[in-house]
Amino acid sequence: MKINTKLTKVSRDVKKQKGFINPGIYKGSTMIFETFEDYINDVKNDDDRSTLYGINKNPSVDQLEKAVSNLYNCHDTVVAPSGLAALIVPFFAFLKQGDEVLINDTVYSPTRTFCETLLKNYGVTINYFQPFTDIKKFEKLIKPKTKLIYLESPGTATFEILDIPKITKIAKRKKIPTVMDNTWASPIFCNPIKLGINIIIDAGTKYINGHSDILIGFISSDKKHSKSIRIATKTLGICPGSEEVYLALRGLPTLNLRMKQIQDNALKMAIKLSNHPLVETVYHPALQTTINHHIWKRDFSGSSGLFAFSLKKLHSQNKIKKMFSKLKIFKLGYSWGGYDSLITFPPLSKRKFKSQLKGNLIRVYCGLEDSEDQIKDIITGLKALQ
Ligand SMILES: Cc1ncc(COP(=O)(O)O)c(C=O)c1O
Repeated sequence: MKINTKLTKVSRDVKKQKGFINPGIYKGSTMIFETFEDYINDVKNDDDRSTLYGINKNPSVDQLEKAVSNLYNCHDTVVAPSGLAALIVPFFAFLKQGDEVLINDTVYSPTRTFCETLLKNYGVTINYFQPFTDIKKFEKLIKPKTKLIYLESPGTATFEILDIPKITKIAKRKKIPTVMDNTWASPIFCNPIKLGINIIIDAGTKYINGHSDILIGFISSDKKHSKSIRIATKTLGICPGSEEVYLALRGLPTLNLRMKQIQDNALKMAIKLSNHPLVETVYHPALQTTINHHIWKRDFSGSSGLFAFSLKKLHSQNKIKKMFSKLKIFKLGYSWGGYDSLITFPPLSKRKFKSQLKGNLIRVYCGLEDSEDQIKDIITGLKALQ
């Protein structure tokens, strides 16, 4: 089954939906046991968090979990109320006091904040590595206490691609679970399970939903790690809102079409910017000039709407404000993945390895507006810097 057909099929089950083409919204905490014996069995098994209760069971949550598992061709998926709520789960599932976790330094900033503010308090040591670390040096960073490797590829703001298959090969040999935040690519452009990853994080807030109107997250895992993930998620009381689940299911049928258009728009913008006299470097994995472009080409089947570029000169905040004031299409805001184009100016100051950038870093997200209008908008903005 081709992807566009699959997306319409996995997101709904017309028979279970009593003929309606879209799934229902199930709201509630309490669920009623059919028999007294069912209740007694449930009490016996309540440690595995599959108790008949709103946190653990809901028909449309089940449907969404199965749909995302199908797209990643993995054993299980658990839904969380945001990408951030999803990404903290593996840390709780696999780490204990005294353990160490290895993370790429270019990770999504709130992931780092979670590690630095909460995880550290539980006696876990966090080690960051540079994304372009030679694989032999990377292996040396793994210590006997390393119990989790957490990756994000491409990295946030600077879009470095990691050599995931090389990392997972080492991790498998050392029996360390690996997690990858795959939000940038979505299930359409990368399947980390195929690259040897055990657990995938996807902030469905972005592409899977695609309309900037909900927060939702997914933790998808292989057979070996799925029970620990499910138990940790449910023990933490993590469960999504029913309308969010409905909207994520509604986003799925158009996911591939949106991704293709967004890919096209962003690539056109990236190419235009790479020839602009004020631009030093465009950080877009699909451009040949980007380091590790060959790895992106090998491991991903497409590129999405988010990338960054650096300027040749460091312009003052006032100048950048002036540039921003000329923009009509690109709005200043977080959480990409919808139809609106966005712009931000990401600070890299929290990173352990300091950036070598000479000029300002500008992150753009190309949404679904017409590509010509998007390009005209950014070029007009850049004129304010001349
Ligand atoms: C790469 C990445 N992962 C996770 C998240 C968190 O998603 P959410 O906003 O749903 O918490 C984000 C949000 O920007 C993100 O960019």
